[in-house]
Amino acid sequence: MDLAPLITERVCRVTGGARVALHEPCFKGNEWAYVKECIDTGWVSSVGSYVDRFERDLAEVTGAKHAVVVSNGTSGLQIALQVSGVQPGDEVIIPALSFVATANAVMHCGAHPHFADSDAATLGLCPAALADYLPTILEQRAGVSVNRHTGRRIAAIVPMHTFGHPVDMPALMDVANRFGIVVVEDAAESLGSLIDGRHTGTHGRCAMLSFNGNKIVTTGGGGAIVTDDTQLAKHAKHLTTTAKQPHKWAFFHDEVGYNYRMPNLNAALGCAQLEQLEGFVAAKRELATRYTAAFADLPGVVLFTERAGTRANYWLQTLILDRAVAGQRDAILAHTNDAGQMTRPVWELLTQLPMYSACPAMETPVAKDLALRIINLPSGPQLVTGIA
Ligand SMILES: Cc1ncc(COP(=O)(O)O)c(C=O)c1O
Repeated sequence: MDLAPLITERVCRVTGGARVALHEPCFKGNEWAYVKECIDTGWVSSVGSYVDRFERDLAEVTGAKHAVVVSNGTSGLQIALQVSGVQPGDEVIIPALSFVATANAVMHCGAHPHFADSDAATLGLCPAALADYLPTILEQRAGVSVNRHTGRRIAAIVPMHTFGHPVDMPALMDVANRFGIVVVEDAAESLGSLIDGRHTGTHGRCAMLSFNGNKIVTTGGGGAIVTDDTQLAKHAKHLTTTAKQPHKWAFFHDEVGYNYRMPNLNAALGCAQLEQLEGFVAAKRELATRYTAAFADLPGVVLFTERAGTRANYWLQTLILDRAVAGQRDAILAHTNDAGQMTRPVWELLTQLPMYSACPAMETPVAKDLALRIINLPSGPQLVTGIA
């Protein structure tokens, strides 16, 4: 069966058929009023009341004690890793199936990514595979978990909640605790996603959120570190604001800091967007229901849906092709895009990228299989009118 025209027809049925991007931002709330206020008052740069408010609002929405807003998710993950103790020369376990920024942030710390396999049930890091793998590579040296093949410390594990579908965090935390390894969550895609009512990003030591233009809530560009650890939050704020000791006029910096601040203008946009988060999540969940219904009669494809006990934000709607029809993926991508319906495959596995191909990795059969069978569909909340 030639699936491409059948899939295009069903996508058009759900989206209305007009040309549509993969994920467009939706500005229907107080965005203009808050941004205008910044311009009217002159508070457009790296300090201002919206920066403080956005941090408070993010803490409230996620249930984390603290949020530190930053210039983007990549810089946020780098700092989250650094303040969690990752040092140059360490190794950090990350999924092979992730956006390149997860690995880049590890490298920006001077550390090395070590790639792990995915769980087909969540699309994220597989706790069971990790539990089997770690004893085969780890040895304890002076109470530290070291990769016996490279001699490097395994300093952190970074689960990533793919397209807003939560990793099995209770199981992952179990594995990490068993081996005494810190967990830092890449929650770039999962604002609004919950596990048993608890927000993703609040299970590990700390987490990063992204507010890039394509995310469920955008600040244009931006990110945040969320954590319950007060000292860690203070250190993250200090490092991301040039490590300047507070003083009325003196410029004394006590570490090599970064200018990773989020400007007040962007935070203003974020505050207005965050007010609408529940509406966005509701719209995207309704969109998932509509895609599921539209594809119900089509053999060979299924919309990926949330696991029991979780609430996914359905950031990007995800169609999974049966193995038997995976060879049609590129034809489906071409047909839908030609019809103005923007779809895309999942990222190339990080283990396939030239700068990461020599990094340590476990076998990744599930990630390899998923990488051939995922197609993301148009996902903007405005595709469901009346909710967002
Ligand atoms: C999984 C993942 N990690 C990291 C990032 C990096 O975030 P940013 O683009 O805000 O730097 C993104 C998004 O872009 C992402 O999807």
